[in-house]
Amino acid sequence: MAGLARRDVDGDISARAARAWWDAHARQYLLEHGTFLDAGLIWGPEGANELELAILAPYDGSVGLEIGSGAAQGAAYLATLGARVIAADISFEMLKGAKHDLLVQTDGRLLPFPDEIFDFVFSAYGALPFLPDAGRVLAEWRRVIKPGGRLVFSVTHPIRWAFPDSPNSDGLTASGSYFDRRPYVEENDLGEVIYTEHHRTIGDWIGAINVAELQLIRLIEPEWKSSNAQIWGGWSPLRGAHLPGTAIFACQRPN
Ligand SMILES: C[S@@+](CC[C@H](N)C(=O)[O-])C[C@H]1O[C@@H](n2cnc3c(N)ncnc32)[C@H](O)[C@@H]1O
Repeated sequence: MAGLARRDVDGDISARAARAWWDAHARQYLLEHGTFLDAGLIWGPEGANELELAILAPYDGSVGLEIGSGAAQGAAYLATLGARVIAADISFEMLKGAKHDLLVQTDGRLLPFPDEIFDFVFSAYGALPFLPDAGRVLAEWRRVIKPGGRLVFSVTHPIRWAFPDSPNSDGLTASGSYFDRRPYVEENDLGEVIYTEHHRTIGDWIGAINVAELQLIRLIEPEWKSSNAQIWGGWSPLRGAHLPGTAIFACQRPN
């Protein structure tokens, strides 16, 4: 019977599920959120954007990689500022929505690039939330960054895992444990895994960054913009007024 579970699930099953799920839902996702995401490099539903934060600057002449790029809006935006950015995603259907030329379909766990070629790697809610073993994935991303280069990624703020995924007031009362690291898993009628999300606490993320031999430079918890009236799943102006929804980890590969 189809259902939801909190249980362990390995990387291969998670990646296979992500690929099929995002292929099947790409059209809907881009219909719902495309206009919002087309506004630049958007780090999360709060509306925090690279134009204001400039975490990846300087752009002109730099070479970057966006992982879990979806329709590559971030890469396309940085290209307007003079960067050359490859956008990579596991889902062909997500990449098909891109208005950008440098596209690669790949699993973010194993990048088809040589060592130390990018000035920066970034990801807005891409790949990492859908995979176990964040330390190993980040180490692979670090491999392709030049010494001194940056790795910046945003994910659902870990505190959200203790609250129901609702944009309304019931989403403001903690119902689960922040410390429950079991992945969220959806299964179909045959018991096959069709969707996964993997939770890490703030401390777990910092541990994974250390395992990958990266230095954490900034942890940004963007506040909900007053001009932003959208509801995006469990994210909303109401919840945004009370709880962080996104965590942006800005790291550096040591020299
Ligand atoms: C929430 S969407 C984010 C897309 C885009 N960054 C944005 O902000 O709209 C997550 C993306 O991660 C991609 N993804 C999931 N697992 C992946 C993996 N193992 N390797 C590469 N991309 C993956 C999905 O295909 C999807 O495009």
